[in-house]
Amino acid sequence: MGGTSSERAVSLSTGRMILSALDPKRYEAVGIDTQQMLAMVAPVWTSAPLLTDAPREAFPVAVAPRESGGEWAREEGGFSGRPDVVFIALHGKGGEDGTIQGLLDMLQIPYTGSGVLASALAMDKAMTKRVLRDAGLPVIPDISVARGETHTEERLIAEVEACLGGFPVFVKPNAEGSTVGCTLVEEPERLLPAIKDALLHDASALVETYVQGMEITASVLDNPRQALPLIEIVPKGTYYDYESKYTEGGSEHIIPARLPESLTRRAQSYALRCHEALGCRGMSRTDMLVQGNEIFILEVNTIPGMTPTSLLPQAAEHAHISFPALLDRLIDCALEAR
Ligand SMILES: Nc1ncnc2c1ncn2[C@@H]1O[C@H](COP(=O)(O)OP(=O)(O)O)[C@@H](O)[C@H]1O
Ligand SMILES: [Mg+2]
Repeated sequence: MGGTSSERAVSLSTGRMILSALDPKRYEAVGIDTQQMLAMVAPVWTSAPLLTDAPREAFPVAVAPRESGGEWAREEGGFSGRPDVVFIALHGKGGEDGTIQGLLDMLQIPYTGSGVLASALAMDKAMTKRVLRDAGLPVIPDISVARGETHTEERLIAEVEACLGGFPVFVKPNAEGSTVGCTLVEEPERLLPAIKDALLHDASALVETYVQGMEITASVLDNPRQALPLIEIVPKGTYYDYESKYTEGGSEHIIPARLPESLTRRAQSYALRCHEALGCRGMSRTDMLVQGNEIFILEVNTIPGMTPTSLLPQAAEHAHISFPALLDRLIDCALEAR
């Protein structure tokens, strides 16, 4: 949990919630803040500023399951023993993007959720769209702009007119979560500032056609594979921003989404196909926009939030899967994938 991404705070709540919900009769679990883990290695291996200035949370940094006979080593910064499984409660870069997954693969420690490839693909919105497009799934038309590319304002505006049919457009960083660096651009003269803002957060930005419609999210679980009931998200602001995503009451969730049966089925089948196309494991949550009879896929999240306001746990609850049962299922999936 924790980590150094822009979603650190959400990750800490996800992690805390998971820690408190894991059945103590089945698991002996300890929280590890990967920011602290990095702090141990970083001074030796790199001079790069790996740490955010987010406050350091005090967690015992050790995992030693009873079965492996390990002794608990709770001294700050010390690891001892080998975990049977790691529950990854990280979001964003360094947690949801395949990097921690690669580290755990090398250490041969099973972990919850998707593996390296699916994680890395899903973190990259442009790559995700390529794979989904190839699988025949409907994605939103876009233009991609990389940091360092020289684009004149006129050329960018002309490209938006030619490729996207004009304004409004939605500008976002290619690989970020939590809606940071996103702007709804209605006037051509706001395009360049919006792209510059998105490029502060990532090396490339996406300019997409703005799709006004109902926002829904479809969760998929494995073991056995199933699509959960759709959730309709009614944001309080113009769109689903950081504030409305993570504050209680910031957005309204309606389960099941108020859609006709046929669209519901189609959205659920898209979510299953996204999960399949990217090669996700354990769980995924696909965000979509519904406009009239059309459904557009926005993105696929491989480690969705597990906070009190989070979507996947709510969808699971609606399908009679309690939060502890959901955690058991994800852990079983991780152990099966060994
Ligand atoms: N092309 C678009 N048209 C309309 N709204 C969009 C579009 N792209 C994103 N949004 C809005 O912005 C939010 C965040 O975008 P998303 O692609 O899901 O990125 P992330 O959740 O990783 O920040 C979405 O939930 C949606 O409300
Ligand atoms: Mg999203």
